[in-house]
Amino acid sequence: MKGIILAGGKGTRLYPMTKAVSKQLLPIYDKPLIYYPLSVLLLAGIREILIISTPEDTSVYQRLLGDGSILGVEFSYAVQETPRGLADAFMLGEDFIKNDHVCLILGDNLFYGQDLTRILNRAKALEKGATIFGYPVKDAHSFGVVEFDKDLNVLSIEEKPQNPRSNYAVPGLYFYDNDVVEIAKSIKPSSRGEIEITAVNNVYLERKLLNVILLKRGMAWLDTGTPEGMLKAAEYVEAVQSRQGFYIACLEEIAWRRGLIDTAQLRAIGNNLHMTDYGQYILSLIN
Ligand code: DAU
Repeated sequence: MKGIILAGGKGTRLYPMTKAVSKQLLPIYDKPLIYYPLSVLLLAGIREILIISTPEDTSVYQRLLGDGSILGVEFSYAVQETPRGLADAFMLGEDFIKNDHVCLILGDNLFYGQDLTRILNRAKALEKGATIFGYPVKDAHSFGVVEFDKDLNVLSIEEKPQNPRSNYAVPGLYFYDNDVVEIAKSIKPSSRGEIEITAVNNVYLERKLLNVILLKRGMAWLDTGTPEGMLKAAEYVEAVQSRQGFYIACLEEIAWRRGLIDTAQLRAIGNNLHMTDYGQYILSLIN
């Protein structure tokens, strides 16, 4: 399975913070926002990851993340000329995806919680169709919204409906079979001028191939779309890390625990960063 992170967009809701800096490079407490979705792909055991961003910002992501070899994975990059919509990821990523299945995660989505790896493995195991997630929220009208019956059959999925049919938002994490590339090509722009991921999911729904997994109370899905959301996310990360001593989205730790890099490699990274708490944390894993 391939992984794609969409880290473009104009970030206008966060101006002036994002006037000169890509949103997904802004810090959430002690690391750039993009580390959080990247950690999810690594936890899912995905080793080939395409990072898509704007013409101005792609080189900055390259500087931050390199080719992935330091983490034992492969990063490649693609430029999205204009923010045409989330489904554009599959057109831009067509040559990268080839005949594989693909997981898309939005560069501004932060997930953390017990069971995350198990849930990701379950989604990844699906052979045909698509898997989305449902997360209960108070303000569902700000998101994609999924409605389902008691047996978890999806009944509808709508993009930012005025009158949501359920209080389950659809987070920015999606698993697809290879048909997604052809489906994305068939999507026409919506009234807001974007090729919507929700339209892609609706095609899977029509084909009776759309599955939903509900994320329960123990799972955090944090919104970073506003300054307040960013602050709350940072406070959450700080609280978990200082209280439990476990870091959220320490990419090097995940790579090491998954056997993608060995202890000597981890130690070298930790030594390079020894002047920071992040580096000290990495070194503490070895001891
Ligand atoms: O966060 C979950 C929500 O994400 C879903 O519930 C919605 O169904 C989905 O449409 C999406 O809604 P948003 O309005 O939050 O999407 P937004 O336009 O803010 O873009 C999400 C991320 O993707 C953001 O980091 C910018 C990036 N992006 C967006 C577009 C439209 C791109 O890189 N390229 C794009 O063309």
